Amino acid sequence: MVTLSDLHAEFRKKYKGNSPSHSFFSPGRINLIGEHTDYNGGHVFPASISYGTYVVAKKRNDQKVRFYSMNFPENGIIEKYLSNLAYEEEDDWANYPKGMIQYIINKGYAIDHGIDILYYGNIPNAAGLSSSASIELATGVALERIFDLELDRVEMVKIGQQVENEYIGVNSGIMDQFAIGMGKENHAILLNCDTLDYQYAPLELNNYRIIIINTNKRRELAASKYNERRSECEAALKDLQKELDIKSLGQLSKEEYDKHQHLIRDETHRKRAKHAVYENTRTLEALEALSNNNLEAFGKLMNESHESLQYDYEVTGAELDAIVHAAWEQPGVLGARMTGAGFGGCAIAIVEKDKIDQFKNKVNNAYSDKVGYDATFYIATIGDGAKELEGRKVR
Ligand code: GLA
Repeated sequence: MVTLSDLHAEFRKKYKGNSPSHSFFSPGRINLIGEHTDYNGGHVFPASISYGTYVVAKKRNDQKVRFYSMNFPENGIIEKYLSNLAYEEEDDWANYPKGMIQYIINKGYAIDHGIDILYYGNIPNAAGLSSSASIELATGVALERIFDLELDRVEMVKIGQQVENEYIGVNSGIMDQFAIGMGKENHAILLNCDTLDYQYAPLELNNYRIIIINTNKRRELAASKYNERRSECEAALKDLQKELDIKSLGQLSKEEYDKHQHLIRDETHRKRAKHAVYENTRTLEALEALSNNNLEAFGKLMNESHESLQYDYEVTGAELDAIVHAAWEQPGVLGARMTGAGFGGCAIAIVEKDKIDQFKNKVNNAYSDKVGYDATFYIATIGDGAKELEGRKVR
């Protein structure tokens, strides 16, 4: 196990005797339900998890910024100046913190000195649990505290999304940064992605646990397929707007969609829009189910969500389907679905506590029979959003 003391020691080693002044943690996220709805102006229902990114840092006296990640030791220390933080492919992972610093400066916040930062992340690699948004927000909270920026948290979340969209060039929605910046222990966040109104919902799981299941499949082509889905939804919206006065698919009820879906000319676009509208409704129903302590109903909505993502939105793929379908058959499972963008990455399942071991064995057997390698299982702990740390433990 890595401890904060290890991070401090590594910082002193890499940055030649200097000790960090501050420590921070920024989580990863799972999404309980509401997938591919954020950029359609709908609702999402994510939660921040206890896996994430640790950061230790110290302000410098000059204009240099230095980044080091214990996850990418082969990249060494990446050294820049505040005046030159433009995106450079060879800077690899460090483009995320570089982008955050650049965009915070662009917004007029005074970052008048350089900084040395060391990162360590324990989010499973390429699992779709938002390690990039985690690094962005880890950097954001470190800068805000160390430079006394008085940067509003929702503003920081928006800057994170802007970095992702404009600086990195991934056209993602607001969900990941919001979940990570605004997370709360043992709560999920129901977020209206159109207005950014949100509410916390206590996650009372009683005898159940949320299991995260990593397909361990590399997420190839994920970005291009993601962008393709976005434009398919935009095309569907355009067709609907010929007769309807709406700004986004998220404004439609299921009934309105059914009544007007013939306006969408392309059959594929029609399926994509149907998912966006129905998934948005399911997300609101899921909040209600959770508020009524009706985990069974919540689980059923998760299953419906997966089916819609499989058949209408077509973002699941053989690996996620194999895992989720195997999970559905196990005793003690209330629901299971893919989480995040899809095309590989992770699924989540709500499983009775006493049946977890059996669940893991059975699902993994079915999965490895089908794809030829193992899945990995984690019990999700829902922790706080990005914050400064005082303790010394790294999970
Ligand atoms: C990725 C994106 C999010 C969201 C999900 C799908 O995680 O970063 O903005 O669109 O996919 O729900």
